[in-house]
Amino acid sequence: NTYALIMAGGVGSRFWPKSRTNYPKQFLDILGIGKSLLQLTYERFAKFIPAENIYIVTNSQYQGIILEQLKGLGAGQVICEPSRNNTAPCIAYASFKLAALNPDANLIVAPSDHFILYEDIFVQKVQQALAYTDQTDSLVTLGISPTRPDTGYGYIKYGADAGDGIFKVERFTEKPNLSTAQEFLNEGKYVWNAGIFIWKAESILKALAKYTPVLFGIFEVGQAVYNTEAEQSFIDEHYPNSPNISIDYAIMEQADNVYTIPAEFGWSDLGTWASLYEAADRTEGNNVVSASQINISNTTNSIIHIQNNKLAVIKGLDNFIVVDEGNALLIYPKEDEQEIKEVVKRMSLEF
Ligand code: GDD
Ligand code: MG
Repeated sequence: NTYALIMAGGVGSRFWPKSRTNYPKQFLDILGIGKSLLQLTYERFAKFIPAENIYIVTNSQYQGIILEQLKGLGAGQVICEPSRNNTAPCIAYASFKLAALNPDANLIVAPSDHFILYEDIFVQKVQQALAYTDQTDSLVTLGISPTRPDTGYGYIKYGADAGDGIFKVERFTEKPNLSTAQEFLNEGKYVWNAGIFIWKAESILKALAKYTPVLFGIFEVGQAVYNTEAEQSFIDEHYPNSPNISIDYAIMEQADNVYTIPAEFGWSDLGTWASLYEAADRTEGNNVVSASQINISNTTNSIIHIQNNKLAVIKGLDNFIVVDEGNALLIYPKEDEQEIKEVVKRMSLEF
């Protein structure tokens, strides 16, 4: 009864201009190892979950890319959304669909854009969580020890050990501002939300009904059509009416049956340029540079990515992001990188 649900419908706007709407970062070989982040995520789950139980939920725009990248996947395993409404509707729809397939479905819901170094530890923690959620009505998330006051993550304050290293969550705070993030860090007893959730379909549907009844109602109406021929037309008509909200704000901040398993498995969220900087090898001056012909001087703590056919000369930057990709150029202070999402959104251009 175990299913993996890989969310691959984001546009990765904080990773602009490498991530573009028509080809977001989860489909790119960001690490230069010959596989996309989505392929790495799929393979990680295929090691311990039957291939027919792995589903990808995405915007219908990316269905072709996904079937191209994941050769073993059946077309029925790509769940398509007609509009971009963030992760709460995405999870609500997919949970209704999987619960209709198997009322006992126990799910791992995971992003498609993370890197995990120690896969065996990861698998062990996920299995521990699955065993717990199978027996209880609980929402479990994996927690990562924070290393900096990053404002791009959810912060989890954990309380008592409910047994075997599964901790009751006292408070979940999605994307706090910098001073709050710093306070959390100083206070201790906080972990970052890895964005990897484990719960029974039944449990998350119950939470959605309780905390987001409007959203729940939209998908409940379709109960008779999931996994039938009428499903896609129902979804195409009703999905776009769902509120645009992430699961973190909609459920994780509200629910009182949230648990976390603090775990160290070499996790990096390759969500932004600074996170790639943190994960990559540094060269002289503490820079991360990818460029074929470049002359750098007096430059430190920066991430620089120049496309192959270009010559670049850079002097005097500290703590900057410089990305030259396709028809776009980004030069931005690394510490302000969370703004990139808004900047990109405001540009009416096809980004
Ligand atoms: N199918 C689908 N539809 N997938 C989506 C959608 C959507 O509308 N929006 C986003 N996704 C996918 C993204 O592709 C990504 O794999 C995942 O859902 C998470 O979305 P992000 O947009 O990357 O979320 P975030 O990074 O801002 O925050 C989440 O992840 C952090 C850890 O990386 C939150 O869960 C935070 O609390 C968490 O710390
Ligand atoms: Mg992310």
